[in-house]
Amino acid sequence: MPHLAGSHHVTLSVGAAQADVDFHVAVLGLRFIKRTVLFDGSIPIYHLYYSNADGDPSAVVTTFPLGKVGLTGRRGTNQAREVLLSAPAGSLDYWNSRLTGHAIECRSVTVFDRRRLLFRHPCGIEYALVEVDQDPRRGYTGGGVPEEHAIHGIYGIGVHVAKPDNMVEFSDGHLGAGDTLEEGDRVRLVVGKPAQGGAVELVVNRTDDPGTWTLGEGTIHHFAFNAETLENQDELKFAIEGAGYTDISELKDRKYFKSVYVRSPGGMLVELAVTHAEGGWTCDESPKELGTRFQLPSQFEARRAEIFAQLEEINI
Ligand SMILES: [Fe+2]
Repeated sequence: MPHLAGSHHVTLSVGAAQADVDFHVAVLGLRFIKRTVLFDGSIPIYHLYYSNADGDPSAVVTTFPLGKVGLTGRRGTNQAREVLLSAPAGSLDYWNSRLTGHAIECRSVTVFDRRRLLFRHPCGIEYALVEVDQDPRRGYTGGGVPEEHAIHGIYGIGVHVAKPDNMVEFSDGHLGAGDTLEEGDRVRLVVGKPAQGGAVELVVNRTDDPGTWTLGEGTIHHFAFNAETLENQDELKFAIEGAGYTDISELKDRKYFKSVYVRSPGGMLVELAVTHAEGGWTCDESPKELGTRFQLPSQFEARRAEIFAQLEEINI
């Protein structure tokens, strides 16, 4: 029976690379685990990876910094809009002070009976730290955030939709979502096991124009679910394609994992990812060295110097 375990990673198109590193590492205290490039297209663009202490598949935020190439996007409806991260219960006062101390405006709200803190990435993408009581994923303490406050990983994704019905049907029928809740203009579904980052929150938005789906600064590019095995991933692809969602990609080798991508009816680009036996974050760096070297897939290795020269300098 095809299934999804929860999230695998979320990928954003952001602006300047250094501002992105500073936000995720110095402010949110995430662990920098990989410095490579976007594998698609011809323009050299960084692909940066951040995670919790263990690089759990459900705890990885990745970014394409586009400031140097000048590609901009538009936030809108029919688009993934909110990065939801899981923070320990009782930690949000700490985070309020920490974010404010870094001149980041934040706002405390309660949604689905959970307190959450709303703020933005420097490029404008909406973030929320959602308070969670029982989340076994280990936060990273190497960035200066104490263990009792450190971010566990992904909580889920917020998707703005003109009308939620088609996305609910897609999520229930093809992503195995359940545990549906409604509150105001928000519908929450859960994909996969608890505390594995699979919350999908559909926000009814009939006022904004549709958001852009291209690589564009200030937008979420896609959200990846964890399909766990290549066989399961293939079965999921077969079923989704057979239902008529033919806007689904072939299998792509992302070195650290293998993926297929499908445009969902809510507008969000959905990735079904599998960390396979030859992949994983430690396939080219030891667990201690993660993120310390500039990594390229074999097809780009011969162009290393040329590619690196076109990227921004960043200090981790
Ligand atoms: Fe991805």
